[in-house]
Amino acid sequence: MSGPEATVWLNALLRFLQWAQHGVLVLLHTLGLTGEAHGQPAWPWDVRIAGETLLIDLGQARQLGVTFIAVALALLAVVIAVLVRRWRAVSLGVAAGFLVVAPWPSVVVLAPAMPTSFHVSPTAFSVVSITHGTRVYNTACASCHGADGRGEGPLTATLTRWPPTVVGPLLGRRADGELFWHIAHGMQDVQGVTTMPAFADRLSDTDIWAVLDYMKVLAASGGVRAGGWPLPVALPALSVRCGDAPPQSLVAWRNGQRVRVVAVDAASGNGIPLEDPRFQTLLITPDGTLPPPTRAFQARCVAASADAWDVFAAIAGAGPQAFSGTQLLADRNGWLRARGEPGTTWSDADFLCTSAARETTPTHASGLDSLIARMDAEPVRYVKGGFIH
Ligand code: HEC
Repeated sequence: MSGPEATVWLNALLRFLQWAQHGVLVLLHTLGLTGEAHGQPAWPWDVRIAGETLLIDLGQARQLGVTFIAVALALLAVVIAVLVRRWRAVSLGVAAGFLVVAPWPSVVVLAPAMPTSFHVSPTAFSVVSITHGTRVYNTACASCHGADGRGEGPLTATLTRWPPTVVGPLLGRRADGELFWHIAHGMQDVQGVTTMPAFADRLSDTDIWAVLDYMKVLAASGGVRAGGWPLPVALPALSVRCGDAPPQSLVAWRNGQRVRVVAVDAASGNGIPLEDPRFQTLLITPDGTLPPPTRAFQARCVAASADAWDVFAAIAGAGPQAFSGTQLLADRNGWLRARGEPGTTWSDADFLCTSAARETTPTHASGLDSLIARMDAEPVRYVKGGFIH
């Protein structure tokens, strides 16, 4: 990938393509020209624009961008031709000229699409969904994909094709809706022989979105041990309870601020940290409750779910027994970025999610301050299956 300027216009182009294709889909659905698949409007064509190709082929991306501009100018000229009779001939000529000189890109910028290509996961990557997905995965998928997601389950020896590992960039490369389709309707090799079985008759749509959430956690978990999360991981949605106030959603509580997640159990005792103005502090406890405070300014907001412990432990790549004392940092956009092991002081080595287009910002601050500065200076620009998230 080239320099930052290329990233800016390429991001704008990808965003536009995503918006335009989604807009077309919503329009067709509103007009009754396309139905629904799995509860959301169905993409009616078997191709879509391949954002993932444009991302690596800047030449094609530039061509497509210039073509869009030429088509927009041609349309403008047609509008002028309709409105201003005197200029009609000239305007139509100019419109035709734009269409002729536009550097029409080749068919390479198209990728195979499925009815669910543009579908968005309804789960918000919640603790509830991840926990449900864990059960689905262990009963329906682990026999082939392996309990740790590396594709080494007990059934693999009997398969014609080895299942891919999810502990890598795979899930980050594909659009969620296309992964969903592969799980619901299976996959075939070029001879048409089934490689990945279809699950639509055994699993509900909710089950499939949940198992995808859990696979992302498996990817994070395995990735930590290899030095970094292979795909950006969002803060899972959950309810937060602060003191005696009624629980509220994490998004409302966070209110656009950074979050420090701290795992504390009974053994941590006074290990409950003090509030810190640099971020909101979210405590995770094994049972989702907090002991009474022992000091002033102690953090008092806890994830109100007993399942949060296992989910966050997995994301941090730690077993539930070894999780106490671990900290995770999320940026203002809600992406988890760094992990601190129990008892250590923060350093740049704790960064687990770095930006693809990194501009190193030399800072003189140390430890946590330097980490925060870097997190803010390098926001996650996540392009998944050619779609920006
Ligand atoms: C019988 C063995 C088997 C089972 C059971 C199985 N898979 Fe697969 N899976 C495969 C194989 C083999 C592939 C590779 C297929 C290919 O590339 O043609 C695959 C591929 C995948 C992929 C990659 C899709 C892509 O877009 O490349 C995902 C995601 C996946 N499986 C999820 C699941 C989930 C979720 C379950 C459980 C609900 C599951 N699999 C159960 C064998 C299996």
